[in-house]
Amino acid sequence: MSRAPGGEFGMMSLQRKYFRALEDYCKTLQITFEEGLEVLRRKIEQNQDALTTGEWAVLRSVIRNPIPYYLCPLDDYSEKYLCAALKALPSAEEAKTTRSEFSVKNTQISIENLSIRASYRVPETRSTKIIMDAFGLKGDTVYADIVQNVSVKASNGNIIFVVGTSGSGKSVFLNALDPDKTIDGNLMVKRTGGLKHSAGWLRPLRNDVPIFEVLAEKFTPEKAFVSLSRVGLSEALAFIKPFWMLSRGQQYRAMIADLLLRDEEVWLLDEFCSDLDPITAKIVAHNLRKQIIATGRIAFIAAANHTHYLDALRPTKVLMLRSGDEPAWLSYKEYQNDFLDQVG
Ligand SMILES: Nc1ncnc2c1ncn2[C@@H]1O[C@H](COP(=O)(O)OP(=O)(O)OP(=O)(O)O)[C@@H](O)[C@H]1O
Ligand SMILES: [Mg+2]
Repeated sequence: MSRAPGGEFGMMSLQRKYFRALEDYCKTLQITFEEGLEVLRRKIEQNQDALTTGEWAVLRSVIRNPIPYYLCPLDDYSEKYLCAALKALPSAEEAKTTRSEFSVKNTQISIENLSIRASYRVPETRSTKIIMDAFGLKGDTVYADIVQNVSVKASNGNIIFVVGTSGSGKSVFLNALDPDKTIDGNLMVKRTGGLKHSAGWLRPLRNDVPIFEVLAEKFTPEKAFVSLSRVGLSEALAFIKPFWMLSRGQQYRAMIADLLLRDEEVWLLDEFCSDLDPITAKIVAHNLRKQIIATGRIAFIAAANHTHYLDALRPTKVLMLRSGDEPAWLSYKEYQNDFLDQVG
């Protein structure tokens, strides 16, 4: 207890704060302090949901909810309740095994000579005629070899990084690795060896509820929390916003958090981290690498702009696609020494 600056006795600073908050509330509603106290008493008796959002914003500093304490011994009702709960819930050992993370068993990708050729029927317009003449192109259909003779071998925990200039075929190549994807009608894909894996892409999340709720409902609140933290999205404000309200970089990370929790064996990630700042990109790349290795997935990751995070991702192999030429396979070290060092 201390003597308050106003001269009153017996009011501690915290109580003074509550007093002021309730006084402001009464002034806003133009009611007496006693009436305000009565309103507050009734609201507390009803429960927290009785408060409107506005009331909650004003009165939350005044209301202290009771903190549940565990008091021994249990009464009859509590004892029966806990015994029933123990029977209904799995034992700690079982819970541990069901909570363990997804892991991929024995996934192999073995494709020989994957080639993708595009045919394009040129519309007869004034400008196309001029361009065809100028470049000596004949016929009404143009053919282009987008991907030429790529042989891919990958197994659990491998990260294949796909690089190449814009238009070199990175996205088309990733699409061809999804057994369920319908390839555009004018693309012809040839390869030896089948694809049996399940492929995971980034997908937008539901828009109607906050992202934490989307993931908590699909998986569990614990898993949602861990996954969002892994992509650096653990601030409260990001948790409570729906997907559409997030920035592009935040949306990208929310989609990765969702992917981390799904069960697909092979991840196909295009334009990897292209919307992220260099530091966040490094964190995401580092955590993604850890997850790929820990769960035994295989990841094909494509990006045109990647120098700032590649050391954190440390891919197993780099596939360099080259427009109009056969691709090159490099180790991460070779790629780093021969190419990255040159671009600084
Ligand atoms: N359905 C299609 N029909 C014809 N050509 C196509 C088709 N899809 C893609 N292409 C061509 O294939 C080439 C490679 O395209 P792709 O989108 O794979 O490039 P990219 O390496 O992913 O480029 P970026 O880094 O700009 O994303 C481009 O020249 C594109 O015009
Ligand atoms: Mg692309």
